Amino acid sequence: MAANATGRKKIALIGAGQIGGTLAMLCGTRKLGDVVLYDVVEGMPQGKALDLSHLAPVFGLDFKITGTNNIADIAGADVCVVTSGLPRKPGMSRDDLVKTNAEIVRNVAKGIKEHAPGALVIVITNPLDAMVYLMQKETGFPTNRVIGMAGVLDTARYQAFLAEELNVSVSSVSAFVLGGHGDDMVPVRSYTTCNGIPVGNLIKADRLDAIEKRVRGAGGEVVALLKTGSAFYSPAASAIQMVEAYLLDQRRVLAAAVMLNGEYGLKGVYLGVPIVMGKGGVEKVVEIELNADENKALHESADRVKQLLAIL
Ligand code: APR
Repeated sequence: MAANATGRKKIALIGAGQIGGTLAMLCGTRKLGDVVLYDVVEGMPQGKALDLSHLAPVFGLDFKITGTNNIADIAGADVCVVTSGLPRKPGMSRDDLVKTNAEIVRNVAKGIKEHAPGALVIVITNPLDAMVYLMQKETGFPTNRVIGMAGVLDTARYQAFLAEELNVSVSSVSAFVLGGHGDDMVPVRSYTTCNGIPVGNLIKADRLDAIEKRVRGAGGEVVALLKTGSAFYSPAASAIQMVEAYLLDQRRVLAAAVMLNGEYGLKGVYLGVPIVMGKGGVEKVVEIELNADENKALHESADRVKQLLAIL
């Protein structure tokens, strides 16, 4: 991985909106490297970068942050996190964004291919599974270096609701949400535990059904409350977990949207599954045995993603 002039890692944030700005702050405070904040809106990335550079002395952080409207400034980035594109408005599904955001993703893919050909690319733009597929096709990067952020966030939402229900620490809940990042995502109850105790032993089935329904609609619940955009703190934090896993070679097991090549009986489609993430990006797709209902739900979710790909 290339180092930049300071010797620190270089993280390019493509899109400096709500998620991009939060990502920039988290990159700095977690000491992950220098940040380039890129957006098409003039002045905005520069303003956010200047503001964030004044946060550095408060926390004693040495990181360089640059705001720019010139994509060439991402040159040599180790990681690109892509959030460019429109967020949802109340009443919209993530899929409603497909055409507009596809144009934007095609455009930024060209810039990443030209200026940061060695980068790991993490896509957050919705509809996620279709946009990360498009990013991989347009850049032509190997599939282990183009990953979609959704599983970490969907899993975190499941963990948060379960911890609240059980009145225990969020860190005692281990969960997995697989499938597409849409209303048909698949919370995998059979692998979800409270420190090893299956949640089904602790929470009644009808209550778990209600919690899982809320997980599937959690993004929409935030949109309905905000009215002017979609969730941004938790998506940014989730992507940061992936950036850390890569830059620090953690070999962390997490759920992410990756290109499947026969795993789970699916091929040529990006979908959320458990992976090992380390310095090689997607080091491995972890295949777990699903029960019949979970397997059916995963395949139905894949069918929905394929329908979106057909539109592209
Ligand atoms: N190149 C770079 N940036 C762009 C481009 C482009 N071609 N087109 C739009 N943008 C920028 C916008 O100017 C805006 O600043 O992308 C930014 C998106 O920021 P927000 O509108 O604040 O949206 P955000 O909440 O950050 O979500 C971004 O992630 O979770 C998904 O659904 C969400 O698709 C949305 C994306």
